[in-house]
Amino acid sequence: MKFPTLTSAVLAFASLSEAASLQQVTNWGSNPSGIRAYIYVPDKLAANPALIVASHYCGGSASAFQGNTIAYRSAADSLGFIVLYPESPNSGGCWDVSSPASLTRDGGGDSTSIANLAKWAITKYSVDTSRVFAIGLSSGAMMTNVLAATYPDMFKAGSVYAGVSAGCFRTGTVAGWNSTCANGQSITTPQHWADVARAMYPGYAGARPKMMIYHGSSDEIINNQNFQETLKQWSGIFGYTYGSPQQTLSNNPSSPYTKYVYGDNLVGVYGAGITHNINMNAQHDLAWFGLTGGNAAPTTTTTARTSTTAVPTFVTSTTSSPPVQTGCVAQRWAQCGGQGFTGCTACASPYKCTFSNNWYSQCL
Ligand SMILES: *[C@@H]1O[C@H](CO)[C@@H](O)[C@H](O)[C@H]1NC(C)=O
Repeated sequence: MKFPTLTSAVLAFASLSEAASLQQVTNWGSNPSGIRAYIYVPDKLAANPALIVASHYCGGSASAFQGNTIAYRSAADSLGFIVLYPESPNSGGCWDVSSPASLTRDGGGDSTSIANLAKWAITKYSVDTSRVFAIGLSSGAMMTNVLAATYPDMFKAGSVYAGVSAGCFRTGTVAGWNSTCANGQSITTPQHWADVARAMYPGYAGARPKMMIYHGSSDEIINNQNFQETLKQWSGIFGYTYGSPQQTLSNNPSSPYTKYVYGDNLVGVYGAGITHNINMNAQHDLAWFGLTGGNAAPTTTTTARTSTTAVPTFVTSTTSSPPVQTGCVAQRWAQCGGQGFTGCTACASPYKCTFSNNWYSQCL
């Protein structure tokens, strides 16, 4: 399954004059799933540099994704950090975020290979292990969530663009396509999503990477419900109350985005009218990672939430909303209400339609 070509991926490199360039690396260690690997090491490498692992979209490649993330490369040149670009070995060029192997720490899938690659780079370049980060777009965003769940001790922060929660794409096959998840129909509780993430590294009780979740309201490939499911997952992990962000910041980092700050460890950034072709925001990510000045303390319009009735409303399709269906039942975990919802509002016995927030109620 290929995602549409991203326009920014076709940036030509001819105009770039930096001496350093993307280099393929081989023989970097155990590579059970057979990924390819590329690295960008700036000419002026900082002592104990930071490291960013950048995972591409379906059908992407390291060099194409470097085009997408060119602002990170410029920042690497000025700040002296390293960017690692793993490349998918799977047909279709998607990351394996669906097999038990990749959804398990050291399970031998793509996540294991990427983590081993990062370990190699950390050792070779004396990387500051307190500054190892992951970013990803689309399939790479899914992988970034999986890396956060499988190697929480390796990554200190992540930023994901248009992905799904870790485990949502599970199919049991390598690099499978889970349309239930893609279509936004894998809906469950923060507790359940957190358990799914924890099960990828059973028994782990240490620190976990803080996460920033970007998604567009008009994503035509990965339904925007996945924004909420991903926020649920990390809310569950960090003990935040899903649906009750501490702050809602309009036009942040800029229009048409709204930022939902759950706390130090979790931020959601929702783009009104933004499709799957979402722009990555290097400046925002680097501030989130603490690599640039301050930690992006919000300075723009602040709408402090004062009650649960002030839950932000996400932009939904503007087509006229058909009435909710009656005379049918929704199964356990299914949605049974919420803004814009048009399905069954009754739950199969013994489950009850339980209000979670203004966006949805669920059969629990
Ligand atoms: C897709 O993932 C969901 C969880 O998000 C799971 O319940 C479902 O069984 C998966 N579908 C397939 C075809 O494996």
